Amino acid sequence: TNPEISKMMDLYAKATQLYHHVLMNTELGQKALDYLHQRGLSDQTINDYQLGFASNKRLLKPFFEEKKIDYQTMHKSGLFSETHDDQLIDRFANRIMYPIKNEHGKVIAFSGRIIQASKNEPKYLNSPETPIFNKGKTLFNFDIAKQFIRKEHSAILFEGYMDVMSAYQSGVKNGIASMGTSLTEDQIGKIEQHTKQLYVCYDGDKPGQAAINRAVNMLANQSRLKLGVIQMPSGIDPDEYRQKYGEDRFKNYVRAARESTIAFKLRFFKNDYNLNNDEDRIAYINRSLKTIASSPSPVERDLYLQNLSSEFHLKSDDLRAQIKPYLIKHQ
Ligand code: CTP
Ligand code: MN
Ligand code: MN
Ligand code: MN
Ligand code: MN
Repeated sequence: TNPEISKMMDLYAKATQLYHHVLMNTELGQKALDYLHQRGLSDQTINDYQLGFASNKRLLKPFFEEKKIDYQTMHKSGLFSETHDDQLIDRFANRIMYPIKNEHGKVIAFSGRIIQASKNEPKYLNSPETPIFNKGKTLFNFDIAKQFIRKEHSAILFEGYMDVMSAYQSGVKNGIASMGTSLTEDQIGKIEQHTKQLYVCYDGDKPGQAAINRAVNMLANQSRLKLGVIQMPSGIDPDEYRQKYGEDRFKNYVRAARESTIAFKLRFFKNDYNLNNDEDRIAYINRSLKTIASSPSPVERDLYLQNLSSEFHLKSDDLRAQIKPYLIKHQ
């Protein structure tokens, strides 16, 4: 094993310990701990994910020095920014620290969240890429989730880290998230090693819905995964659902709200049309037919054709005639 890599891993393990200790056992971390408790995270979850707090007291460098971590490793860790006179200043200050682990459960990066929303600072700040952290090869929670992905025969892709931890606390343990970007070929490959089925469960707000549409289109082209959507109620994200309705209802909801990507799209596309206007109705119906035609399953196609026919009071035979030209690619 490469000594540079193992030294960096060791540094990240020690940083995780310090941040976690500050959160759980010190006055400096009290506000952050109160905040997490207020959001309904249990001490069990906080411990399982080794959440921490980075204070603004510059504790990291003296702590590392005491642990005999060398300057070069600190310098390359991404946990410091460097001043003109070669000082190492903590990059994360006043942030709740979520450790990002590799698939073997070793911490390789952090995402730091501010407690109070602010215009001047981003809500989340992530470690930069380092010799041990490649964002496109990392899936949040994959170390824990992979055994549950096998057991449940499916994975659930969430938008945020907090959604994944909320799901875990509610007993939904096959959840993962990317690092705030769309899935890469490498991440898709990792998921495909454990399951054929992926559900996308993003936020119920507008950006979340648009992101579902992009994700399922990309995955339909770039992966062999069977896809489904778990639709959150309008305007709320999975973590907010758990806070509002509790863990049991969260768990039930995630099971009950599964739908096909076609059902998702037929609803999502409605936002683009004024369905009181005939021209728009016709355009929406045509777009729906194209979407339905993309299913390789005749039964699924027929189901949605019939829904469309009753929704718009159209003869299903007419819809069957109109969908024909779009079907060619399946023959
Ligand atoms: N994100 C980011 N930087 C930001 C905002 C968002 O990297 N400034 C990423 C994070 O991975 C975040 C995800 O996008 O988890 C989803 O964003 P959002 O829905 O705004 O955050 P939540 O996960 O809901 O976070 P919280 O509940 O703590 O507000
Ligand atoms: Mn602990
Ligand atoms: Mn969001
Ligand atoms: Mn969210
Ligand atoms: Mn949220």
